[in-house]
Amino acid sequence: MKRYFTTPIYYASGAPHLGHAYTTLVADAYRRHRALLGDDVMLVTGADEHGQKIERAALAAGMRPRDFVDARSAAFEQLWHDLGIGVDRFERTTGAAHIAFARRFWLRLAARGDIYAGEYAGRYCIECEQYFTESEVCPVHGRPLESFREPSYFFRLSRYRQALIRHIETHDDFILPTARRNEVLTFLRANALRDLSISRVSTRWGIPVPGDPAHVMYVWIDALASYLSVLAPDGDAGDDDAVIETWWNGATHFIGKDILTFHAIYWPALLMSAGLALPRSLVVNGWLTAFGRKIAKSEPETIIDPRALTARVGRDGLRWYLLRRVSLGQDVDFSDEDLVQTVNSDLANNLGNLFSRFTVLAARRLGAEWPCSPTAESAAVEIRETISRTGQTINAGFDAGNPAISARAFLESGAAINAFFQQQAPWQIADEVRLRAVLGEVYHGLCDLSVMGLPFVPDAMTRARTALGLDNDAAWEEIGRRHAVARVREAGPLFPRIAAG
Ligand code: MSP
Repeated sequence: MKRYFTTPIYYASGAPHLGHAYTTLVADAYRRHRALLGDDVMLVTGADEHGQKIERAALAAGMRPRDFVDARSAAFEQLWHDLGIGVDRFERTTGAAHIAFARRFWLRLAARGDIYAGEYAGRYCIECEQYFTESEVCPVHGRPLESFREPSYFFRLSRYRQALIRHIETHDDFILPTARRNEVLTFLRANALRDLSISRVSTRWGIPVPGDPAHVMYVWIDALASYLSVLAPDGDAGDDDAVIETWWNGATHFIGKDILTFHAIYWPALLMSAGLALPRSLVVNGWLTAFGRKIAKSEPETIIDPRALTARVGRDGLRWYLLRRVSLGQDVDFSDEDLVQTVNSDLANNLGNLFSRFTVLAARRLGAEWPCSPTAESAAVEIRETISRTGQTINAGFDAGNPAISARAFLESGAAINAFFQQQAPWQIADEVRLRAVLGEVYHGLCDLSVMGLPFVPDAMTRARTALGLDNDAAWEEIGRRHAVARVREAGPLFPRIAAG
């Protein structure tokens, strides 16, 4: 099966921070998990490079918008590389292929009769790139809104209310977690939808509207189209539908709750109008906060540089912390202390400790290779069952849009193997046949963990696999497989303990 995963394309207006890293790491964990299950996977992220917000940020930096976005998006791309995220394509909205596609997309809506010219008068938050009609200040940033009155093209969003309600009602997994789905449904049932203003004349930094270059497309239309443009053929000639279809069915968008309306209401309505299928799921994360406030560029005190954290706890440490601590949909207040404590207690003390005790003992007592056959002892059978259940829980956690459940199941499995190791006290076993049987169970348990842990701690699990004599083409179907011979090498610590403070 083909599985297409996207993150939001992040505004190329500032430096990437921990909030961006979180959504991207969640998406990457899904990508890795589905790849292990044998799916063809693609993860797309990118940069949102048009609009007034970017134009102003460039001006403030004394740069031409083009040079400004080149530098900003390079910083995002570099960070994803440094965090070990498997980005298959990085889409920039200033790219020629994207621009050509966005214009074709517009023409599809127009052909449906869903675009008309009018005038927009209202208050706008440039930071959000969004109109807020009901208040004087931005509900997100708390700053005064700017008033605009200008000619604008509109999209007939109002037409799609019933169809949206029907789609969400009949597709339980369309918005995860369920609380977010209910929120959108409640809103749609209680409110009429106003048509959406989809062009601007007050900025030149955007994609010209086909047939009316005095207007540029509203930056959100431009940005949402990136989920498709990245799949579409280059240039104007290709057959969009055929190319898009190969990946688009079964698409999952990972987003933060701040951009839910754009993805749960505007985007599906635009797709319906264009005659395209809707994505399979929106997986909506809550906010990471610092000192109780949303981590955001507009709040400099909240900005946490992911690199400063990886320097301290490693990329696996940061990834683990975010995936395990943050239950999808919930807000979590980040603290350095919590990070260090989680990494030490889960990874260094639990998994890391088990792994090094096992490899040292096995290499010392049994050498680099030894035959191992399964024992019928109840403790061993239990451990195998626990591990097989863990595999299922991990899958279920991902399917439910909550990889924190999966991460915890992985951790508990490690704890169960640890308990088995302690209980069997192999360091006291003199009989070599029995020792092989006991260490053989631990060996197999660790082999299974080295597959299941790849979405959460890929660097360590890759090293563990080498130490366990496994190749790096891990697959989910290895779980539970018995090896006639165990190959064990002593390896350095998988997770060094992090000093506090
Ligand atoms: N450019 C738009 C998205 C267009 S998608 C077609 C945008 N960009 S953004 O740079 O502001 O990124 C927003 C996304 O970053 C959020 O939806 C979320 O995925 C992630 N996060 C940004 N700050 C975050 C937190 N403090 N906590 C969790 N996620 C955060 O909106």
